[in-house]
Amino acid sequence: MDHYAVFGNPIGHSRSPFIHLQFAKQTQQTLEYQALEAPLDGFATTTAEFFSGAGKGANVTVPFKEQAFEICDKVSERAQKAGAVNTLIKADNGDIHGDNTDGIGLVKDLLNNKVKLAGSNILLLGAGGAARGVILPLLDQNPAQLVISNRTIEKAQHLVDNFNHKDFSATSLSELQKHNFDVIINATSAGLSGHVPNLPSECLTSDTVCYDMVYLNGITPFNQWAKNQGVKTTIDGLGMLVEQAGESFSLWRGVEPDTSAVLTALREML
Ligand code: ATR
Repeated sequence: MDHYAVFGNPIGHSRSPFIHLQFAKQTQQTLEYQALEAPLDGFATTTAEFFSGAGKGANVTVPFKEQAFEICDKVSERAQKAGAVNTLIKADNGDIHGDNTDGIGLVKDLLNNKVKLAGSNILLLGAGGAARGVILPLLDQNPAQLVISNRTIEKAQHLVDNFNHKDFSATSLSELQKHNFDVIINATSAGLSGHVPNLPSECLTSDTVCYDMVYLNGITPFNQWAKNQGVKTTIDGLGMLVEQAGESFSLWRGVEPDTSAVLTALREML
């Protein structure tokens, strides 16, 4: 039987085994999918062991996505741009290929929620790994502009310099009051400590869609802040989690699972 896994540390609360086993059931695939904790200093050896056995593919989560990028024999363009890999695929010749499905997962979830991206003014908050991973897939949707902002503006400017795309620019948080966005995506980790990026309320209207890449049992701090500003549509990152998994599953198994059914089941479990 083909084996798949998600590697992280910690990994105990990962939803990935549930998601992938549901996909397998839906598509009548026989496979095993486990959550495996790699030691913080032992990611490369743990994954090498996995792939020398029955391992056919793996997901990678915090804090190993950058290390996963390093161990690949070949990576996709989107993984290259992200500098990080969340999907490992064992090729027939034994090589390990790396891809990054986080960004397309975000885009698919936004589109599933009927959020218009083409021609829109989009603000991306944060300039860490989570933000970097979604820039190229967002630009591929042809927004009017993608603006990135971050508490430490130099990091955002650095990403803009690296991408070198005409519709991609950086603005400091305080300068954002001069702008007005159709979509605001929070890719900071501020919410994990109960904080919200220091965003001027002038940059949104009640029609702005606010998307938080994290999810919780209940509304996230960023989405609560947005609602307090009168925003009508807020979305959390649970759909992105399911969509990135769906993309990984398709890469491994060559079939597209029904992500909406799994998202509904997962939402009920939160
Ligand atoms: P990840 O892989 O989740 O992106 P990361 O690389 O550590 O994690 O990046 C965390 C991001 O959240 C950064 O953009 C960080 O801003 P700084 O670059 O200024 O550190 C942002 N962040 C974390 N806590 C924040 C807070 N309380 N307010 C605003 N931004 C915050």
